[in-house]
Amino acid sequence: MEVKTSLLDNMIGVGDMVLIEPLSEDTFIENLRKRFDHNEIYTYIGSVVISMNPYKSLPIYTAEKVEEYRNRNFYELSPHIYALADEAYRSLRDQDKDQCILITGESGAGKTEASKFVMSYVAAVCGKGQEVNKVKEQLLQSNPVLEAFGNAKTVRNDNSSRFGKYMDIEFDFKGDPLGGVISNYLLEKSRVVKQPRGERNFHIFYQLLSGASDDTLQKLKLDRDFSKYNYLSLDSATVNGLDDAASFRTVRNAMQIVGFMEDEVQSVLELVAAVLKLGNLEFKPESRCNGFDESRIKDKNDLKEMCELLGIEQSVLERAFSYRTVEAKMEKVSTTLNVAQAYYARDALAKNLYSRLFSWLVNRINESIKAQTKSRKKVMGVLDIYGFEIFEDNSFEQFIINYCNEKLQQIFIELTLHEEQEEYIREGIEWTNIEYFNNAIICDLIENNKNGILAMLDEECLRPGTVTDETFLDKLNTVCAEHQHFESRQSKNSKFLTDHSLPHNCFRIQHYAGKVLYRVEGFVDKNNDLLYRDLSQAMYKANQSLIKILFPEGNPAKVNLKRPPTAGFQFRASVGTLMKNLLTKNPNYIRCIKPNDKKAAHIFTDSLVCHQVRYLGLMENVRVRRAGYAFRQAYEPCLERYKMLCKQTWPHWKGPAREGVEVLLKNLQVPAEEFAYGRSKIFIRNPRTLFFLEEKRRQCLEDLATLIQKIYRGWKSRTHFLLLKKSQVVVAAWYRRFAQQKKYQNIRSSALVVQSFIRGWKARKLLRELKHKKRCEEAVTTISAYWHGTQVRRDYRKFFRANAGKKIYDFTIQRIMQKYFMGLKKTMPSMSPVDKSWPARPYGFLDGTHQELRRVFHLWRCKKYRSQFTEEKKATYEEKLAASELFKDKKALYPSSVGQPFKGDYVEITKNPKYQKLNSLVEDKVLLADVVSKINRANGKGAPRIFLLTKKSLVLADQKTGQVKASVPLLDLSSVSVSTQSDGFFALKLKEGSTSAAKGDFLLSSDRLIEIITKLHRIGATSADRNQINIDISDEFLVQFKQDKVCVKFIQGTPKNGNGVACKRKNNRLLEVSVPSP
Ligand SMILES: Nc1ncnc2c1ncn2[C@@H]1O[C@H](COP(=O)(O)OP(=O)(O)OP(=O)(O)O)[C@@H](O)[C@H]1O
Ligand SMILES: [Mg+2]
Repeated sequence: MEVKTSLLDNMIGVGDMVLIEPLSEDTFIENLRKRFDHNEIYTYIGSVVISMNPYKSLPIYTAEKVEEYRNRNFYELSPHIYALADEAYRSLRDQDKDQCILITGESGAGKTEASKFVMSYVAAVCGKGQEVNKVKEQLLQSNPVLEAFGNAKTVRNDNSSRFGKYMDIEFDFKGDPLGGVISNYLLEKSRVVKQPRGERNFHIFYQLLSGASDDTLQKLKLDRDFSKYNYLSLDSATVNGLDDAASFRTVRNAMQIVGFMEDEVQSVLELVAAVLKLGNLEFKPESRCNGFDESRIKDKNDLKEMCELLGIEQSVLERAFSYRTVEAKMEKVSTTLNVAQAYYARDALAKNLYSRLFSWLVNRINESIKAQTKSRKKVMGVLDIYGFEIFEDNSFEQFIINYCNEKLQQIFIELTLHEEQEEYIREGIEWTNIEYFNNAIICDLIENNKNGILAMLDEECLRPGTVTDETFLDKLNTVCAEHQHFESRQSKNSKFLTDHSLPHNCFRIQHYAGKVLYRVEGFVDKNNDLLYRDLSQAMYKANQSLIKILFPEGNPAKVNLKRPPTAGFQFRASVGTLMKNLLTKNPNYIRCIKPNDKKAAHIFTDSLVCHQVRYLGLMENVRVRRAGYAFRQAYEPCLERYKMLCKQTWPHWKGPAREGVEVLLKNLQVPAEEFAYGRSKIFIRNPRTLFFLEEKRRQCLEDLATLIQKIYRGWKSRTHFLLLKKSQVVVAAWYRRFAQQKKYQNIRSSALVVQSFIRGWKARKLLRELKHKKRCEEAVTTISAYWHGTQVRRDYRKFFRANAGKKIYDFTIQRIMQKYFMGLKKTMPSMSPVDKSWPARPYGFLDGTHQELRRVFHLWRCKKYRSQFTEEKKATYEEKLAASELFKDKKALYPSSVGQPFKGDYVEITKNPKYQKLNSLVEDKVLLADVVSKINRANGKGAPRIFLLTKKSLVLADQKTGQVKASVPLLDLSSVSVSTQSDGFFALKLKEGSTSAAKGDFLLSSDRLIEIITKLHRIGATSADRNQINIDISDEFLVQFKQDKVCVKFIQGTPKNGNGVACKRKNNRLLEVSVPSP
């Protein structure tokens, strides 16, 4: 649903000055200030928009804002320039009424900005399409071009428009833009040659010098340095916040969009450059023979460059600055120019050149933006014209400007009243005459054809004889003296004779906006706006086509001896045309106000605003608007807004809106003289009545809000309560269900327990009964079996012998044994004595038999095994057995000897020829021959010896030669000592006192120690004449070396020389043998 709003909503101060109560200048300004402080820069006076310059950018011109104001009624939203633009555009489009938007205000008040906002709003809301967008773009881009050439920095405004501008934007029947026409008024051309302190020349000069490329400047024969040009003021050449170089690019781009050809742009720039060059021309006096001074150009370089630029012959121009030709009828008189006249001519040329260039630009733009169709167009005119000017020193320009403003004020009053009157007639309301000040009398003072000031000025300018500003003033003094708005010291009216605020060379006009004092100096000159014909002819001779166009009067073929129309005349004519144009249109006013002189945001200077309010005639404006009825509103929105104030109309009124409003006002007891019923609108005479309605509405809205709040709260609480109730029922239901479920489960499990107990009891009872029944049956069976047995035995006793049971038993045992043996036969282990396997026993009672059979079988297979032995092998096994008895589990070397066969002769003593002699020395059969190590007693080192063992003796011989070293009868041997470890050391201990003992015991070492000792021991065992040799196994034993007893000690350790056994003599008493640990 569309939200209905009103201007009256959320107002800061009052949005429409018509509603101000009480109306006075103070309340008016206070309202403006209040709104300005809240950034509300727009305020209405009826349909007029007052715009305060915020001097800062506000976020109120966004695309969203455009949408907000689009197609909304003027008073529907808070005041905005968009509301005015929308209203104007919609009236134009929908009601086919041509519109004009008149923007006035003093310099810097924001007129140009306002005109741009209006144009951009219209551009945003009107139709779209490729062609339309091009037109829009061209219309919008004409602004930067005109601003560059027609705007300048002044003390009041950094971008002050130095010309008046009126632009007609043309639309087709759909409201799409077709094109436009721009009119320009009175460019301030004096600025070209001279600028007041703190001001600049037109922007384009600075933009060209800052922004053009080096190449362009070279072509234009220009230097980037501003100080090189006399026409450019230097004290404010750069302006804060203005980037001239960037602006130049924007202007060039805009010219391109608008449709300027490249050579046209070039020509325009050449003319701008020519103006700069012109300013640099300086003159010096040169005496002529006729006694007159004649001016000469000092430095001709600038002249030369300028002539090259414009394609003029230098001598022609030079002459034009030295002579002046006056033509009268058929005569031509040439007079020389003195230096002052030459300077005057130079400046006049510069001013004309520039102002004509500007007019040409406007025409050229018009050519581009001209509507292409001839069909009827709807027109919206935007007038951005200088506001009323009251300076300390007011001259011809201010006079002209103020005249224009008088005219605008006149049509404003006329149109406002006219519109008001029209509305009253339209609405059928009686028209009462309104008292207001009509400034037609002032306009008449200025523009009257017979005795108006402008007519007087023209008359004076055209009059033959000496004409000065003073003669002009004299004329005014005589002609206008009686006029009540004209004041002069010299006038016949004696009351100003003593008025020292009115100097002798001035006159004063009481404008509608205040009194303005004009100094007459320069009036005649400026009105004449004279350019010597020689100069225009020189210009016409230029090659450059544009300059030729600008000075058509220079064409010798069209010499016109008539004086050109004066500036005043031209202006009056163009203002006349403008006024006519405006009168055909529906006016929309934007009144711009400047809040301070400092171009600063947030500062509101009361006196300055008050001054503007006065001369803009805003109070007058409000009064006119309030003269009849202050406020009017269509019946529908009025009823919609206030219907809540009456029971009959609230909430809905069924019937025509007008009747509703009537009922409403009657009910509210509003006095009848306070309002009038129009055809479509209600007219309220006094703002007080409106505020009464508003206040009532506010109270009513509060009550309604309370009511809505109450109902809403009630509804909310009720809904909440119902929800709680519903929830409670759900929760209770769930809880009950849960409780019942639990109870049921308890009952169920109890029932199950009881049931199981009963079932158990029953089952047990049944079991008991069944068991009893079974026992009874078994007892019966047993009894019957016994009984049957007894019966059978009794019957068959006679057939059995007394030992039948034993037989059966024996038979059974026999069968079992038979089965056992047969099974054993099949599973017998192998015949190998080392096979440890034996079949498992089948019957527990045969355990003893089974083990015994195993033992017997083993003994038998060992016997079988032994029976296969030869004598030799038998002896060998006997030796092995003896070795085992001697050393098993006693010496660590033993296990390694088990696998070695005891060969006996390892050196092959009988076969080896080396030992033939040794063999022959030995009488008995050699039982063992091997190489052993004889341990040196002194150092423990071993020396190889042949060790021979016979039944009677043992011999040690040299290994190499076979020479006998020692021969010991076995009878002399008392014992043999060996260690428990894996070494091969053995000591042969000799009986004390024997012949062999003289040298001491032998300490030998052999890998075959086990075999040697076993054989030695067995010799003793088998010989009847000898005692068995003692075998002493110990890790520490004594050995007799000659006289000494040396202890041989075996230790476990890691000898340095690898795995071998190391023997070392530690001291006289100790020989240490370290044996590697196993
Ligand atoms: N609505 C606005 N929002 C922000 N700044 C503004 C607005 N209106 C004006 N200004 C500021 O004020 C400056 C002067 O405005 P503008 O040029 O429109 O004045 P003007 O009335 O056209 O003056 P002149 O008569 O000298 O041409 C602008 O350059 C801009 O900085
Ligand atoms: Mg402006």
